[in-house]
Amino acid sequence: MPTVTNAAGAGQHDFVVVASRLPVDRVEDPDGEAGWRPSPGGLVTALEPVLREADGVWIGWSGDAGPAPGAFEANGLDLVGVGLSAEQVRDYYEGFCNTTLWPLYHDVISAPQFERRWWEAYVAVNRSFAAAAAAAAAPGATVWVHDYQLQLVPRMLREQRADVRIGFFNHIPFPGYEIFAQLPWRRQVVEGLLGADLLGFQRRADATNFLRACRRAAGLLTKGNTIRVRDADGVREVQAAAFPISIDSAALEAIARRDEVRKRAADIRLALGRPDTLLLGIDRLDYTKGILHRLTAYRELLDEGRLGPHVVLVQVASPSRERVEAYRTLRDEVELIVSRINGEHAEVGSPLVHYLHQSYPREEMAALYLAADVMLVTPLRDGMNLVAKEYVACRYDERGALVLSEFTGAADELTSAFLVNPHDINGLKDAIVRAATVSPAEARRRMRSMRRQVREHDVAHWAATFLDALKQAPG
Ligand code: G6P
Repeated sequence: MPTVTNAAGAGQHDFVVVASRLPVDRVEDPDGEAGWRPSPGGLVTALEPVLREADGVWIGWSGDAGPAPGAFEANGLDLVGVGLSAEQVRDYYEGFCNTTLWPLYHDVISAPQFERRWWEAYVAVNRSFAAAAAAAAAPGATVWVHDYQLQLVPRMLREQRADVRIGFFNHIPFPGYEIFAQLPWRRQVVEGLLGADLLGFQRRADATNFLRACRRAAGLLTKGNTIRVRDADGVREVQAAAFPISIDSAALEAIARRDEVRKRAADIRLALGRPDTLLLGIDRLDYTKGILHRLTAYRELLDEGRLGPHVVLVQVASPSRERVEAYRTLRDEVELIVSRINGEHAEVGSPLVHYLHQSYPREEMAALYLAADVMLVTPLRDGMNLVAKEYVACRYDERGALVLSEFTGAADELTSAFLVNPHDINGLKDAIVRAATVSPAEARRRMRSMRRQVREHDVAHWAATFLDALKQAPG
């Protein structure tokens, strides 16, 4: 049995989630009183029951620069806020996480920048998260670390707490070795991750890429899914495998079935002038999402008159990472093409693209999903893409069609979608036309099969499968 290396410092939580973000946002009421409002993402929904049952705690960052909020309770959950200084927000979050790792892990769609100062900030911030986890975990606890912002935490934590069981899940792709090899700190990242007992990836291909990086960047031996790691405690076996993430399908479907949401869906179509075809895109405004490719295809289809007389595209692009240069440039490019399309094709009172640079509550998203005839999910690279799964979960009416990029994790599972290569603009245009004109019978057949997949593989299933495998990992 592993021992508690610093029993004096052990905490009291049997289950610890370590993620870049807290599952709450800081808000101020009109009197200037600060408080926390839940930000209900899929991850917290999935982990909430486990957190409650196992006396769990969630460690994360609030999203603002400033001192650590420390331990607090919100919505009945125990939370620990890690603090980032303004320099750390710039060098760790905007720099290393979102200008080095994000573009590198998404197949260099945007050129990654390698700054030594950013790497130092990444090491320091990962150390803060590892220290918070080490302080919170009870002897023998399970610690689940999430995503590319925290890849050094597993090893840092193991060095302080050899007694805990450590899982890591990468929500974004893990790139092929030729790309990963560009990272000047590739060995440190691989070794950081290998502090875990189990490493989860979205797709089999991501796990395979990681296993290759273990061999090439760290000179380790792998057999099947297992990596042999030598550290202070001798030889350990680490597992790397695919655990495709999902959504709370039943909860989302229940929202879509509500009377007021269905009414809102009808009102949306009315407000858009009752289009024959309503196309929908919902994304974070991110260059990985293929928004420009989608808009280009749409523009050409309008030029050629291939979509019929009354078609409308609603594009929700929620604000994201707005201080990072590549995101500002993308926003300018998207807004330019949106205004060109409307300038060239719209009539007074009826734009052809409704562009919304805003975030919406789940109810409004569900109404949009229900209203749409064709959902456009066209990323150039995406670890999973939960919007595709959300669309399917909301379509209890078995109508609607999904155009889905083959470069998303979701494409491995939603094989009845209209699959596209978004770089192939002609192919993308043909797929949009096919989706917009599909017969009701074929649409139903495709939607039924996708709905079965999303219903049977929801986020609770994902979390349970990962945590089960972690329990059984050799360690
Ligand atoms: C992706 C990442 C998450 C991240 C989210 C929002 O889904 O996988 O780790 O939290 O984007 O990005 P942000 O930079 O706002 O945290």
